[in-house]
Amino acid sequence: MTLSITFDSTTNYFHLTNQSISYIIELLDNRYLIHRYWGKSVRNYSGANRLPSYKKTFASFQSLEQDNQSFEFLPQECPLSFMGDYKEAGLKLRLADQSEMLRPIFHSYNIFNGVPNLPDLPHARATIDEAKTLVLTLIDSTSRVQLDLFYSIFKDNNTIIRSSKLTNLSSDEFEIQHFASATIDTLYQGQQLTSFYGSHQKEFQLQHTSITHGQFRIGSSRGASGPQYPPFIAISDLAHECYGEVRALTLIYSGNHTELIERDQYDQLRLQIGLNPEMFSWKLGPKECFSTPQAVLVYSDAGFNGMSHQFHHFTRHHLLPSQFKNEIAPILINSWEMTYFDVNEEQMLQVIEQAHQLGFEAVVLDDGWFSGRNSSKTSLGDWHVDPIKFPNDLTPLVNSCQQKGMKFGIWFEPEMISAQSQLCKEKPEWIVKSPYFPAYYGRNQYVLDLTQKEVQDWLIQTLSTFIETYHVDYIKWDMNRHLVENESQLAHFLPKEFSHRYMLGLYRVLNYLTQQFPNLLFENCSSGGGRLDFGMLYYFPQTWLSDNTDGLDRQAIQYGASYLFHPYQLTGHVSAVPNHQTNRTTPLQTRMDLADSTNMGYELNILKTSLEDNHVIAHHINRYKSLRQLIQTSRFYRLLSPFDHNATAWLFESEDKENYYLVAFRNTYSVSQTGYLLRIPYLDDNAYYITSNGESYTGSDLKNAGLFISFEKGDYQSYTLYLKKKRENH
Ligand code: GLA
Repeated sequence: MTLSITFDSTTNYFHLTNQSISYIIELLDNRYLIHRYWGKSVRNYSGANRLPSYKKTFASFQSLEQDNQSFEFLPQECPLSFMGDYKEAGLKLRLADQSEMLRPIFHSYNIFNGVPNLPDLPHARATIDEAKTLVLTLIDSTSRVQLDLFYSIFKDNNTIIRSSKLTNLSSDEFEIQHFASATIDTLYQGQQLTSFYGSHQKEFQLQHTSITHGQFRIGSSRGASGPQYPPFIAISDLAHECYGEVRALTLIYSGNHTELIERDQYDQLRLQIGLNPEMFSWKLGPKECFSTPQAVLVYSDAGFNGMSHQFHHFTRHHLLPSQFKNEIAPILINSWEMTYFDVNEEQMLQVIEQAHQLGFEAVVLDDGWFSGRNSSKTSLGDWHVDPIKFPNDLTPLVNSCQQKGMKFGIWFEPEMISAQSQLCKEKPEWIVKSPYFPAYYGRNQYVLDLTQKEVQDWLIQTLSTFIETYHVDYIKWDMNRHLVENESQLAHFLPKEFSHRYMLGLYRVLNYLTQQFPNLLFENCSSGGGRLDFGMLYYFPQTWLSDNTDGLDRQAIQYGASYLFHPYQLTGHVSAVPNHQTNRTTPLQTRMDLADSTNMGYELNILKTSLEDNHVIAHHINRYKSLRQLIQTSRFYRLLSPFDHNATAWLFESEDKENYYLVAFRNTYSVSQTGYLLRIPYLDDNAYYITSNGESYTGSDLKNAGLFISFEKGDYQSYTLYLKKKRENH
């Protein structure tokens, strides 16, 4: 696709396009940046979509000559308060003299190849051939503030990346009170709003609602992106998986955030995403600058599946550490649901032996391995191998894995500290805590004050030494509580700066470790998906999606999460029944099929399985080995939603569109409904497809007439089918 960013000085339009999408901004009166369009690409934009300017009572205007030009009707790129735009502003400052008024006007623009590098924040990656960036600079010469708006567009992806930067040109300090990453103004035309809600063990619950007048706002004030309202908001005309226009936003950030949609009295819509202003403010000294996290804007004219393809492609090619783009992850067995805190050398050596026999490629020692850690009440921070559980250190385990050609992984919760720990005795001032009140517990633990460089350095040192000593191949980086307090015992900055400073501290640690150990596989975890966002994906190629491993509940969680994340970026484990979280018993085959639709592993106790089960498990692992290349590189299509049906279905399509893998689940059995009719709209009309059952169908048949899939009797059954495109000469 040809990539271009142009400015036409006769029409005053900036036009970003890759021939698939367009983003258009008008420079009005050589001063203001007006949003004109974001969507499918247009040629020779004329401005015919512009709203007329009304002369409405209550609308304000700048001069008597321009009494039909009010900011109440001008869609803006960065709306400000005190300019007659009464909706949510994109930027709010408090200047040294307490004034909050700001009137920056257009100053200049710059276009460069590639994407901006935000040194302190995770950000989109691209070579100079893959993307172009427009920078629009505005200056308020009275307050001496410079505002830069960044827009990047990609050759191979329908994503626009936006972020903003403020520079203090004055000789006084001022305070940023609110600074959105992106604001987009458009018109309400009956669109639906899509967002997620959730909780621990119930992440990514899909919600489609109508957009009513007023504001709808979600976000997080927990110091982490949170499963409650992950950073995502979308508007769509049909809210359909396969059809219709979708405009979706997410953030490359892992801390507090806000997503807002506002419908005003004239049915104008404002979408906004960025740092949560309730929990944010920043003092900016003379000559200093501040950059917002990047917002990711996706446009799709192929429904939510089309939107997800853009997100999946973007994260794989422009966000993940590039060395993991094509990397197949090891199939691992994790000790958590197997034995919980009760781990020891003898039993882990048996697990390694058994795992090797069954075909696993990695063994992960989860929580419980360090300094007296027998429950969640102690020892976080004391990252020394427990001498009672592991009298010979970890060496026998690491060696045994190595001899068998397997990888060895281990669990850490680096950002946390237990009250009962040596570290807490030595460094009580490292706990996040107000000087006036006792600190709150969360899962029996405190949070380490990562706003402090000395704490960051300690973490870097502790983890680096551990990795170098034991040569581990994988680290599960957990974070099992959210933040309550927003004060540091050691620093004097505004409490509202705390949570962003915490994130910058964490990112500094992650930048260091992932650069120092580029081949170490880090898995993101926060009691499952408690901090699952594009910020974490920049460092960690995979995430433990949920602590809920139930064969039914997880269908909805995986379905919802796939809106943003490719299934291979999410790990899923086959666990025991009755399930430890729900007490539900689902068939082993269903649990296997469900985990196969992710980056697959196990968590059931393979020291207690029967010989027959072992045979099934070994066979399953083998099968996944032949499947995972397809899963990893696939295009993923959702076909049947568990939020609407008693069933779930999805499809993996190989990159060359030659192979398909269809997976479906039916929840409760009903005598009157034995199966589902599935239409598979993504096949080639004229091609023939051979199934794993030996049947042959045309693409148009499966697309239009469809395929009736029948399930076995009983609850929680699964169904899988391979489809292979028939070669012409067959
Ligand atoms: C969290 C994780 C689990 C496990 C436990 C250990 O809940 O999500 O997978 O690692 O912590 O304490």
